[in-house]
Formats: sequence, structure tokens, C-alpha cells
Amino acid sequence: MMKKILIQFDTDQAPSTFDRVVAVDAGVDELFSYGGISPDNVTGLVHGAIFTRGPADLKNTAIFVGGSNVTDGEALMDKIGSTFFGPMKVSVMMDSNGCNTTAAAAVVAAKKHLQLAKTSALVLGGTGPVGQRVAQLLATEGSAVTLVSRSEDRAATSCDAIRKKTDAGTLTPAGAATVEEFQSLCSGKQLVVAAGAAGVCFLPEGSLAALDGLSVAIDLNAVPPTGISDIGVTDKAAEKHGTICYGAIGVGGTKMKVHRKAIASLFEANDHVLDTEQIYALALQVAGLA
Ligand SMILES: NC(=O)c1ccc[n+]([C@@H]2O[C@H](COP(=O)([O-])OP(=O)(O)OC[C@H]3O[C@@H](n4cnc5c(N)ncnc54)[C@H](OP(=O)(O)O)[C@@H]3O)[C@@H](O)[C@H]2O)c1
Repeated sequence: MMKKILIQFDTDQAPSTFDRVVAVDAGVDELFSYGGISPDNVTGLVHGAIFTRGPADLKNTAIFVGGSNVTDGEALMDKIGSTFFGPMKVSVMMDSNGCNTTAAAAVVAAKKHLQLAKTSALVLGGTGPVGQRVAQLLATEGSAVTLVSRSEDRAATSCDAIRKKTDAGTLTPAGAATVEEFQSLCSGKQLVVAAGAAGVCFLPEGSLAALDGLSVAIDLNAVPPTGISDIGVTDKAAEKHGTICYGAIGVGGTKMKVHRKAIASLFEANDHVLDTEQIYALALQVAGLA
């Protein structure tokens, strides 16, 4: 039996311990970890991955792209894809800063309770890597998404970027910076996802009780102060003031399962490319929603 080798390319100097632990837990036989990887130094390493095993055996080698900077991870993915040719390729997954697995886990949590095609959703902190992906996946499901930033221009730029990936649903940019503005934007929404930077609070204690008609609220920020103060970090489908609530750790269990399943699925073929949509498809399977 040929060994399953996962090659971890991290854009940070030190390869992530988090991603290494998940790789081991996902059952890889050998993990080769490289730090400080960029489009400038990856070509030779990709050649080493694709020229060592025959085409029929290349499904036993795969690449994971990680690191704290999502833009750098996307550039690395592009370079890796352009280095492959013909059958000389291996499967690749991108999850820099946990952006894809976190967004996928958040959207499947919402989908357990809502018909997303009939849902009006608010994504706070929607310009970040996680928020943009949450908005993209909700739009793909047919939701009417309002993407919020402190700058309406930045929100519009993010909506334009998402529009290049899906024409489903609707995307509306909004600028807001005060609690009153955030609360006002919640009006008429069935779903709110807080995807702001760590330690950024959008909706302080007491906000959920004041909001009518909000069915599901998800806060992805685990670092105090959290994004929606009424939600506990470990909340998982906890009902509060008539709203079903998920905190960052409440979503985290699904995120870990999705990450492990995605790594395992890399070894099914040598041509999988696991980015936002593909990882969401796996998340739906994990949640029994596929
Ligand atoms: N549970 C998990 O497993 C997991 C995994 C990964 C990430 N996370 C969490 O998910 C959240 C989103 O991650 P990310 O990497 O996408 O975040 P990020 O890029 O650091 O921040 C997201 C957005 O927050 C907004 N923001 C920053 N400072 C703000 C402030 N002082 N007031 C209001 N808005 C502010 C910014 O939007 P504008 O500048 O456009 O306003 C930014 O684009 C983070 O809290 C992160 O810790 C959780």
C-alpha cells in the first residue's frame, strides 16, 4: 500500500501546528511541512511532488496551503495550479487562516435551521476572508445577503469580488460603524453572522432581546469581547430570546470535522482542488445536509 503523503506549504515562516495536528488526525501517513513558501520558491517543491510517483499513484500525494495571510495563500494556490500540466498534478486544498473551513461550518450551522434561499442575512465584518466566504456561500444558496463593513466602499469591493464567483442570491453592501447602525441593519433579517476581527464587538449584551424576527445568530469571534455579547463562545444551537445561537467554539467542532474530511478526500484522486465551494460541499456531507 503506497503511503499517503501530505505536503504542507505554509506562507508563514513556521508551519502551523494547528494544520499539522489536523493532518495527522485526518490519517496521513507522512507529513512534509515547509514554511516561508511563496509563489517565488514553490515551483521546485511542486515538481518534487509531481515527478516522484507515476500518474496512477499521484493520488497518494497531496498539497495543503495554509498560513495566516489569506491573500498570500490564494496567490500560492494560483502558482501551484499553473505549475501542474497534463496528468502531472496532485490534489490541493487551501485553508489559510481557517477561512474556508470556518465559513463552511458557519453556513451549514445556519442551514440546519433556515431555508437559505428564503433567508435575508447580515454578515458583519463581511470584508475579511471569513466574512467574504460566508457571504459567498450564503449567496450561492440563494440568500439575500447584506455585507457590512465600516466602509461602504470596502463592502462594495467585497460584493464585486464575490459576484465574480457566483451570480446566485443577492449581495448588498452596507457601511456601518455604531451599535445603533448594526442593530438597525438586523431589522428584517433572519440570520446574522458576526465575522469581525478578533476582539471586535458589534452587538453588545441585550441586543438579541431587542431584535424581532431574528432566527439564527452566529458569532465567529472567540476573543473577548466577542462579536455578539449575548452569545457564549461554546453555544451550539442554544436558544436565547427566541434566536438560535452559535458561538465560535460551537461552530468549531464542525469546522474540525470538515477540515479532517477535506484532507482525507484529497487522497481520492490527483485532481481535486478544494477551495471555498468544494469545502462547503464536504461540510454539507459532514452535517448530513448533502
Ligand atoms: N472559530 C474558528 O474556528 C475561527 C477560525 C478562523 C477565524 N475565526 C474568527 O473569525 C473572525 C473573522 O476572521 P477574519 O480572518 O476574516 O477576520 P479579519 O480579517 O481580522 O477581520 C474581519 C473584518 O473585521 C472588520 N474590523 C476590523 N476591526 C474592526 C473594528 N475595530 N470595528 C469593526 N470592524 C472591524 C474589518 O472590516 P472593515 O475594515 O471593512 O470594517 C475586517 O475586514 C475572527 O474573529 C476570527 O478570530 C474563527
